[in-house]
Amino acid sequence: MRVGLLTGGGDCPGLNAAIRAVVKHGEGTYGHSIVGFRNGWRGVVEGDVLPLGRQHIRNVLPVGGTILGTARYHPNAEDGGIEAVMATLEAERIEALICIGGDGTLHAASKVAEAGVKIVAIPKTIDNDVSGTDLSIGFHTAVNIATEAIDRIHTTAESHNRVMVVEVMGRHAGWIAINAGIAGGAELVLTPEDPFDIDQVIKFLKHRHRAHANFSIVVVAEGAEPRRGGSMDFTTQLGRFGEIVAGAVGDRLAHEIAERTGFDTRVTILGHVQRGGSPTPTDRILGSRFGVAAIDAVVEGRTGVMTALRGEEVVLVPLAEVAGKPKRVPPDLIRAAQVLA
Ligand code: F6P
Repeated sequence: MRVGLLTGGGDCPGLNAAIRAVVKHGEGTYGHSIVGFRNGWRGVVEGDVLPLGRQHIRNVLPVGGTILGTARYHPNAEDGGIEAVMATLEAERIEALICIGGDGTLHAASKVAEAGVKIVAIPKTIDNDVSGTDLSIGFHTAVNIATEAIDRIHTTAESHNRVMVVEVMGRHAGWIAINAGIAGGAELVLTPEDPFDIDQVIKFLKHRHRAHANFSIVVVAEGAEPRRGGSMDFTTQLGRFGEIVAGAVGDRLAHEIAERTGFDTRVTILGHVQRGGSPTPTDRILGSRFGVAAIDAVVEGRTGVMTALRGEEVVLVPLAEVAGKPKRVPPDLIRAAQVLA
């Protein structure tokens, strides 16, 4: 059997673990041929293939990024895109396609599955906002990186008596902000799920600095926005694929805090640092488990499904049920960050 494989959307640590598992298990256990497509769905549309054998996946487990390359490209949003996908898959005699991606890639995958292609998806995104799975590949590493950054910012904040605003990724959900904020002991965590009241933020900081502290750490997710009708007028700007201009909310928030409190304030935008470098063991293991489960699903003839972690188990969930529905941080987790301020 010839099985296609692609990685789409933003890269993240742990993708190569999944690619390696697909190749090792697909070829080694079942004798399938794995055909990689370069640069996500764009490679499928353009017929840009890369045969993937054991020699290509040697030593990739600790390596960040994706050996296949990736792109933000959705064939369902392009004229003739789905037809071009079908033509390439037929020319390459691909019988099933494994798509590793976040929400945009998975939405495209569900459209291609509707057109009759056998699809098994694997969720990845440092934002951890894919529905139906407890964890997506890349999130654990990103939280580690953000936590380490907050730890480092802590010591310089305290030495200089400063307010430090730390902007982390998370367009539609504040999973990194909340988890790294709790782990790093941030004073305030602002997320897209819970629009913030700038007057409350200022009141809190003034009280804290008057009462018992000389510094504060404010973690803000890039998709966080002030409450409508409040005294801060700011709306997030999204690009064509829903990507955010990094730094906008962090810069603006730091400016508002400095202006309204008079406290010495600095901003750190973590940006793509969170998506780079070597994956944690958790992401290597998750990518490996998802890769094995995806090949097993292909062999069982399953289609239109996504591998998902539910508790301790990897299961398959219908792609149509999860694509296009961002998974939000639950209120109890947001509350934990708030009460620990
Ligand atoms: O992959 C998710 C993500 O990292 C978001 O958190 C961020 O808004 C976006 O990608 C950045 O996209 P790009 O790498 O295209 O600038």
